[in-house]
Amino acid sequence: MLDDARGSARGEIAGAESLPALEEIRVRLLGKQGSITALLKTLGAMSPEERQVQGPAIHSLREAVTAAIADRKAALEAAALEARLATERLDMTLPVASARQGSVHPVSQVMDELAEIFADLGFAVATGPEIEDDWHNFTALNIPETHPARAMHDTFYFPDDMAIDGKKMLLRTHTSPVQIRTMTNQSPPIRIIAPGRVYRSDSDATHTPMFHQIEGLVIDRDITLGHLKWTLETFLKAFFERDDVVLRMRPSYFPFTEPSAEVDVGWSMEKGRRVVGGCEGWMEVLGSGMVHSRVIANMGLDPDEWQGFAFGCGIDRLAMLKYGMDDLRAFFDGDIRWLKHYGFRALDVPTLSGGVGA
Ligand code: PHE
Repeated sequence: MLDDARGSARGEIAGAESLPALEEIRVRLLGKQGSITALLKTLGAMSPEERQVQGPAIHSLREAVTAAIADRKAALEAAALEARLATERLDMTLPVASARQGSVHPVSQVMDELAEIFADLGFAVATGPEIEDDWHNFTALNIPETHPARAMHDTFYFPDDMAIDGKKMLLRTHTSPVQIRTMTNQSPPIRIIAPGRVYRSDSDATHTPMFHQIEGLVIDRDITLGHLKWTLETFLKAFFERDDVVLRMRPSYFPFTEPSAEVDVGWSMEKGRRVVGGCEGWMEVLGSGMVHSRVIANMGLDPDEWQGFAFGCGIDRLAMLKYGMDDLRAFFDGDIRWLKHYGFRALDVPTLSGGVGA
C-alpha cells in the first residue's frame, strides 16, 4: 500500500508543469492536512510491533517524496530562468532605436573641438587628478601658504586628518596643477592642453561649484609673448570659426606667470544677439602669461635655457559664447529637454576640415 503511494506521488511530482502546481502537490502530500502527514499520525495508534515495521517505511516515504519535490522544484526553477534569459536576450547588432538616442553635452562637444584644434597645433592632451594636494594646486605654482591668492580661490578643502604625506588635500581650483604634473613627468620641449573639471565654492547664474577649464602649457627654448598671442589668436579664430575675432591683452596678475595677461575677445551685435567677432565691446575669456621663472626653477629646469607660456580658459564659458546659452546652471541640471535643444549628435565628431562647430 505504501509502495502504491510512493509510485503515484512520484508520477504526480514528475508531471507537475509549474511551480504553483508543484506547491499544490506538496501541500496535498506533506502539508498539515496532507496524506503522508496523515499516515505519520496513524503511528501513534499502532502496537509497538506494528510501529517498528510501519515507522521506518512511512518516514522513508516522506523523505523520498520530499527529495523528489526538491529535485523537481530545482528543475522547474532552472527552466524558468532559461526561459527568462531567452526573452531578455538583446540583439546587439540591431540598429539603435532613434527615439532613444542621447546627445553629446555641449561641454563634451567643446572639449572635443578644443582637442582637435590644439592637436593640429601639435599639442597633446594631459590629465591630472581632481582631488589634488595643496602643493600641486598652490605651492609649486608659486602660491605659498600665506599668499592672498589662496583666499581668492574659495577652495573646497578635505579635513586635516585626510592629509597625505603631510600634504593637505583639496578639490583642484584650476587646471594649472597639471602644468606641474606634466613638468615633473616629462622633459621639455612640452606642448600640452589639459581639459577637465575644477571646483570652487561659488554659485550664481555665471558660477557653479564645479565647472570646466582647459589649461595650455608650452615649454621650449626662446619662447616669447608673441608665441602666446599667436597661439591664442589661432585657437580662438578656429574655435569661433570667424576670421574677425579680435583679441585684447590686458596686464594682469597670476602668481605663476610673469608677465601675466587677461585676454578679452571683441563682440558685436548680430540679429539682437551678442556674438564673438568685431569689437563693439569686450569680454574676458581667459588668463595667461609667461611661465614664472620660479615655477620653471621649481621643476628643476634652468629658466635661462627654458621658457614657456601658459593659459587657462573656462570651457563652459566658451560653450555659452559659441552656442548662445545664457545660464551656466542649466549645464548641470541634467534636464533632458535642455540637452535635446543644445546637445550634439554623437556621430558629428568635430574635425578641422569639416568645421569644428559640428
Ligand atoms: N589658473 C588660472 C585661473 O584659474 C588661469 C591661468 C592659467 C592663468 C594659466 C595664467 C596661466 O584663474
